[in-house]
Amino acid sequence: ATERTFSIIKPDATRRNLTGAVTKMLEDGGLRVVASKRIHMTREQAEGFYGVHRERPFFNDLCTFMTSGPVVVQVLEGENAVARNREIMGATNPENADEGTIRKVHAESIEANSVHGSDSLENAKIEIDYFFKPEEIVG
Ligand code: CMP
Repeated sequence: ATERTFSIIKPDATRRNLTGAVTKMLEDGGLRVVASKRIHMTREQAEGFYGVHRERPFFNDLCTFMTSGPVVVQVLEGENAVARNREIMGATNPENADEGTIRKVHAESIEANSVHGSDSLENAKIEIDYFFKPEEIVG
C-alpha cells in the first residue's frame, strides 16, 4: 500500500553538505519527498521527539547531537514507505549496515548516523504530526 513515513537528515549530514546526496538515495529508492523543511531543533523538540529513549544511556548525548546543527525533516511517500525507507537507510549502527545504504555510505557513527526513519506506520503518523501541519504536506 502507499504509505507515508517520516525522515530526518541529521546534523552530521547537513554539516557535510549531504542533503542532496541523501535525498537522491531516498528518491532513487522509490520514495517521493512530499514535505521538507530545514530547521534547528530546540532541546525541547529533540527531547520530546526521542521521548521513548528517555531512559537509555545515550539519550542526553543524542539530544545534544540532534541540536548541534540544522536538520532536514521530511515526509516521504511511496509503496510500503516505512519498510522501504528502513532498507534504504540501513542498520542503525553503520558497521552493521548493508553496502549501498545511506548509513553505510555516509554515517560517521552509531550516533551520527546521518538519517532517522520511522520504525512503524503508527510512529510515522506521530512523528509526521510532531513536525508538520497538514497543509505543509503536498502529495
Ligand atoms: P535513530 O533512528 O534516530 O533513533 C535513535 C537514535 O539514537 C539512533 O538513530 C542513533 O542516532 C542514536 N543512538 C546512539 N547510540 C545508540 C545505541 N547504542 N543504540 C541505538 N541508537 C543509538
